[in-house]
Amino acid sequence: MKKIIFLLVLIITLISCKENKTSFVKDATHEVKIEALLSKMTLEEKIGQTNLRGVSSRAKSLPSNIKESVRKGNVGAFLNIMNLEYVDELQRIAVEESPNGIPLIFGRDVIHGFKTMFPIPLGLAATWDAQIVEKSSEIAAFEASAYGIRWTFAPMLDIARDSRWGRIAESPGEDPYLATILGAAYVKGFQGDDLSNPYRIAASAKHYIAYGAAIGGRDYNTVNMSEPLLRNVYLPPFKSAIDAGSATVMSSFNEINGIPATGNQFLLKDVLRGELKFDGFVVSDWDSVIEMVAHGYASDEKHAGELAAKAGLDMEMTSTAYEDHLKKLIEEKKVTIEELNDFVRNILRVKFRLGLFENPYRNKEHTGKFYSKNHLKEAKKAAIESTVLLKNKNSILPLSEKTKVAIIGPLANAPHEQLGTWAFDGEKEHTNTPLHAYKKANTNFTFAKGLDYSRDKSKKGFKEAIEVAKKSDVILFFGGEEAILSGEAHSRANIDLPGAQEELIKVLAKTGKPIVLVIMAGRPITITNIIDKIDVVLMGWHPGTMGGEALYEIINGISSPEGRLPVSWPKTAGQLPYFYNHKNTGRPADSSNFVHIDKIPIAAWQSSLGNDSHYLDAGFTPHFPFGYGLTYTTFSYSNISISKESIKFNEDLNVKVNVTNTGKKAGKETVQLYIQDVVGSITRPVKELKRFQHVFLKSGESKEITFKISSKDLEFVNHKLIKTAEAGKFNLWVGPNSVEGLKETFFIKN
Ligand code: NOJ
Repeated sequence: MKKIIFLLVLIITLISCKENKTSFVKDATHEVKIEALLSKMTLEEKIGQTNLRGVSSRAKSLPSNIKESVRKGNVGAFLNIMNLEYVDELQRIAVEESPNGIPLIFGRDVIHGFKTMFPIPLGLAATWDAQIVEKSSEIAAFEASAYGIRWTFAPMLDIARDSRWGRIAESPGEDPYLATILGAAYVKGFQGDDLSNPYRIAASAKHYIAYGAAIGGRDYNTVNMSEPLLRNVYLPPFKSAIDAGSATVMSSFNEINGIPATGNQFLLKDVLRGELKFDGFVVSDWDSVIEMVAHGYASDEKHAGELAAKAGLDMEMTSTAYEDHLKKLIEEKKVTIEELNDFVRNILRVKFRLGLFENPYRNKEHTGKFYSKNHLKEAKKAAIESTVLLKNKNSILPLSEKTKVAIIGPLANAPHEQLGTWAFDGEKEHTNTPLHAYKKANTNFTFAKGLDYSRDKSKKGFKEAIEVAKKSDVILFFGGEEAILSGEAHSRANIDLPGAQEELIKVLAKTGKPIVLVIMAGRPITITNIIDKIDVVLMGWHPGTMGGEALYEIINGISSPEGRLPVSWPKTAGQLPYFYNHKNTGRPADSSNFVHIDKIPIAAWQSSLGNDSHYLDAGFTPHFPFGYGLTYTTFSYSNISISKESIKFNEDLNVKVNVTNTGKKAGKETVQLYIQDVVGSITRPVKELKRFQHVFLKSGESKEITFKISSKDLEFVNHKLIKTAEAGKFNLWVGPNSVEGLKETFFIKN
């Protein structure tokens, strides 16, 4: 009889495994083992698997009763256990003493590096380079796994269009296509092709979903969004991560159209499981189950547990609604045992994929190679590629060897700050600052901080800074934000340089020396008030462990700045949210009839000035557009051509363009292809990125760049929630950013 049941389960699983579309195809033997385990587990043990116990990221000791809970099988996973003895001991108890020997998973926020810190994710996005992103997460996984960590809460794939939001630092920026490419790269880097490789860790695509659309950029805030917008902009990066095999998904804190994501049946069941065919497990965010009470969606924690369970949330992070109430909810028939069984199946599936049943323990020989030569080399490369040159008046950069520089500013030697947000394990002692890099290269410089930290308002350091500036040829001002000013719960209403930085820059400008402003920050910083005082703007983001050398090399021409903005750079926070792929409106903004606030006649008769969609004071363009970034050379675009004037559905269109390096130095150009669907059954964005390519050209060299797009690339979800491309006219641009480029037009015809 037992044999027949076994065979039946095997056949059924084999059939269902075949249907699965994700890159980690269900393993039939896992499914059989899962069923066998499930049949032996008590209700308490099943609930135990759904329990992700958290300790604070700085906790030094374990809660007293935790070993006993593991022994009883009441814990499925841990986060933030960083004491290796505890990791080993807890796993030993789970495997050897708990009723069914089910191993634990140890998780941690390994977001942009573990010990060797890479640039913050928004900086990594500025590389526009999937290989760099993949490498950075592969190294992060390698280092973290030495601590027994086999699960990270990354990648963060929330489209972010409001730089006030502190978590924009963790995001891939404002564009769904770029986020889609990078999302898959993160997953590949963390997980590799085989999750059971002990040097790889399970990814968690987060925060599902639309967390980045919080009102006013205020963290945790409300999201109201049409379903087409959700599906066209916010969902694609998650689909990409799931197709790449993301083992887990984290639900977000926010509500969407009145229903918190953590208790959202439609989003978790219908979309994530039904449409995206996700077969790993969904973890809540920290306390986000019980926060449904504060949202006003659940009456109490028990009700919150019920709502989360009905929505299909498999594992609860930190709060204990499942632990405390699931048993009762099942007795009361509010949640079924089959629903709980499914959660356990999903969790065990990931544990099997991680190879934890065969290999539960931390490999004690695994050194992590923290800060190895190769890891530092890759971190430096990522920091170089992420740096964006925004202004370079009179080609002041790169500096010549003989230039005497004054190094000034609160971020010039701030090793902790340049690691950025979510750098729990990065160590400032191992961090290379710009000052370190200058000292090592022994160049011609003097240093005066001017301000002790980014928010410093004291002017006591100004005098020394001015003196140092006067004796130099060029001022290198390293400004920006401390790490704590971006990231979770760290939104800002004003995103100018904080403290007295602007004031210091203004007094330094009076020396008449050129100023190079190097910004290290977790978001675009508005610099409208000082842009006229500075000659060069270099955006370094929070560049990580090797930021100093990376910036040194760029400033001195050993490397070139090649990053591109993954987010529009606003003139003022009052423009936010701002994104290049907005809609046209019935009255598109137009420079020919824009009247600036200062040009309005006194006692003007009431009229609709300009009659279009703009701000009287800030206009309608950003300071620097999405995709923008200068290099140390120049490129020109010519001879755009398309293979056909019209394509049929499912036909390809080839686009060709010549790119020439017209400057004196070799350099890399990021060639970008945008389209506009001119008329749609719902209105379409003015531009959408569809492809990009990097091309490296020597001075004077030309290359023909070819792109292929098909009608598939032109699909969108319409008002009937059907994904379709529509016949009609399309504009297409190929160029260096989202506002420049050569234009062509084509049609899709039936
Ligand atoms: C809350 C954050 O929103 C999430 O991104 C993070 O992974 C968890 N805390 C765990 O630290």
